[in-house]
Amino acid sequence: MHEPRKLYVKSFGCQMNVYDSHRMADTLAREGFVETQDPAEADLVILNTCHIREKAAEKVYSELGRLRKQKQEAGSDTMIAVAGCVAQAEGAEIMRRAPVVDVVVGPQSYHRLPELLAEAKAGKRVVDTEFPAEDKFDHLPTPTRAATRSRGPAAFVTVQEGCDKFCTFCVVPYTRGAEVSRPVTKILDEAARLLDQGVREITLIGQNVNAFHGEGLDGKVWSLARLMERLAQMKGLARLRYTTSHPRDMGEDLIAAHRDLPQLMPYLHLPVQSGSDRILAAMNRKHGRDLFLSLIEKMRDARPDLALSSDFIVGFPGETDRDFEDTLDLVHEVGFASAYSFKYSSRPGTPAAEHEAQVAEEVKTERLAELQKLLEASKAAFDAACRGRTFDILLEKPGRQPGQLIGRSPYLQSVVVNDPPAGIGELLTVTITDVGPNSLAGVPAETPLSPALSRPLAAMEA
Ligand code: 5AD
Ligand code: SF4
Repeated sequence: MHEPRKLYVKSFGCQMNVYDSHRMADTLAREGFVETQDPAEADLVILNTCHIREKAAEKVYSELGRLRKQKQEAGSDTMIAVAGCVAQAEGAEIMRRAPVVDVVVGPQSYHRLPELLAEAKAGKRVVDTEFPAEDKFDHLPTPTRAATRSRGPAAFVTVQEGCDKFCTFCVVPYTRGAEVSRPVTKILDEAARLLDQGVREITLIGQNVNAFHGEGLDGKVWSLARLMERLAQMKGLARLRYTTSHPRDMGEDLIAAHRDLPQLMPYLHLPVQSGSDRILAAMNRKHGRDLFLSLIEKMRDARPDLALSSDFIVGFPGETDRDFEDTLDLVHEVGFASAYSFKYSSRPGTPAAEHEAQVAEEVKTERLAELQKLLEASKAAFDAACRGRTFDILLEKPGRQPGQLIGRSPYLQSVVVNDPPAGIGELLTVTITDVGPNSLAGVPAETPLSPALSRPLAAMEA
């Protein structure tokens, strides 16, 4: 018998790429590939790339340089594929700049990987960045039980891809294309299989997830809220999340879902990008500061224990000190539990890249440092306020010390528990005793919060 061929997949960027990397691994598992964590022993290396900011895109080329050196030194014939948004946006450029690459495959063509690899094996360098008419999801296989187990009890399910919003700074509408929602039956099938394999938490993902408008079970168009209401009826599903949302698509029914669905975690990632109305307009965000703030108020009315996370961009073209002050002011007003913040990065082909009033690099650096300081303080305050609180955590993986397990709180914080009376894949009610910079620690609570949810149908054996 042949040794199985080894596959190393490195994922950059967003959760959509993590999901896609898993689907590529599932597709190649059928071809006899097993995953390895060591690129040096891989027969095939896939880099699943991100194009959102220049730095993210440049990482691909430095990684390819490293791989070329490694290949030369070892005299190996490892094949190299570049997937994801850089592949989509600059496939030909990759082939030109990096002769080491055998295959370039865009996000809509992953189901074609086996054919593309066969062509590459025959000596061709192949680029496939089409948006094919067939639905790639129909061709992507179900993960094996072992694969799901190795990925843990919290899984992603893509419900929507692409974006029609065209924020002036963003490449997503170009790299991922127009918004497309998956039909509800397919999503339910995928969720049912994951639950059957021991998954307890599902995060519905999409570039603009709350714009979801898929064909429902009754043939009518279903919203994300309607989809989640149906998912919440599924046996074994303890937790539900969704990301990433756009403020303009937070419908009344979605807000109500936060009040009505106990499985829906009280945590929402809602990018705002800026606190200045002038900049929001220039970004073509289709919402102002007031709409964002009133949304937060409504959400908190619906779910008082809701915590918020967001994305920010500093140094968007034309951003003045005054605009930036408005952003700081919004952060003070909302009090985010966590956030991502970035310097504006000019992306070729996007409208903002043509803007004359680009902000100087030093100014961006200063503003980012100031904003991050404030966001970190806000996060630290939120974490500190968790001390003494009791909530369910979903145990996901072993900790560093023997006997320790690490779980996630409803707010996605990592919580370390020593010798928990439960295993990976189970919910455990804990009281938070310590708060560190990167994780919390807790002890099992005397009285479980929600006994019905705390007793899982099937725990995930390690
Ligand atoms: N420059 C900086 N940040 C960007 N983002 C998207 N495009 C850019 C860009 N050109 C950020 C936004 C988005 C997150 C995923 O990445 O904040 O919400
Ligand atoms: Fe990009 Fe804006 Fe679409 Fe988000 S909503 S993916 S930032 S264009």
